[in-house]
Amino acid sequence: MKRNDIILAPSILAGNHANLSESMKIIEDSGASWVHLDIMDGHFVPNLSFGPKIVADLRKISKLFFDTHLMLDNPQDFIEAFAKAGSNSITIHVEPEYDKLGTLKEIKQLGCACGIALNPGTNAESILPYLEEVDLVLVMTVQPGYGGQAFREEMLPKIAKINEWRTEKDLDFRLEVDGGINPEIAKRCWEEGADTFVAGTAFFRAENKKAFLEGLV
Ligand code: DX5
Ligand code: ZN
Repeated sequence: MKRNDIILAPSILAGNHANLSESMKIIEDSGASWVHLDIMDGHFVPNLSFGPKIVADLRKISKLFFDTHLMLDNPQDFIEAFAKAGSNSITIHVEPEYDKLGTLKEIKQLGCACGIALNPGTNAESILPYLEEVDLVLVMTVQPGYGGQAFREEMLPKIAKINEWRTEKDLDFRLEVDGGINPEIAKRCWEEGADTFVAGTAFFRAENKKAFLEGLV
């Protein structure tokens, strides 16, 4: 089986929003090469987080890969703003009604990698039309909106199925899991084919962040 290298993307959502530059430094010092940026609109998800200005200001202080996760009902209206703010990758959700293929294309035209995300209650089949187009598939392993929730075990077969399609179709998108991830759970997701791990609460709680990263799988 083909495998990508393993990437940890700590989510700054679980950092200190009164001092995000300190949170960014904590992520950089851990040795992680990605940071996950959770953007929420209070509509697609029942919470608000931060917008493109914060991403642009973080860009000025960091060279990490910016993995931007748009939890928005109208992501198509914000692609340019998040690309210009310095995102390296932009992931959109499959659930809302909008032109997803056109939006993925726009993300690529703006020079970013593109991803498609799906919620725990969404069938894996719903992302099939986009698999050939994307650089990343993000499997939500909690209902999005809040950090600190428990990983949903029933997502393991979904990860395995998407990984199977990746092999069958000879594609090389990254397979990212997001929600309730810690090193022990990451290992179980890795066994099913995941290679990219978002961790917010468990990462910021870990006393030794380098060990957290090294112990991942
Ligand atoms: C959830 C977000 C996640 C979140 C993960 O809505 O998409 O990225 O920050 O946080 P933890 O690791 O605390 O579940
Ligand atoms: Zn996320």
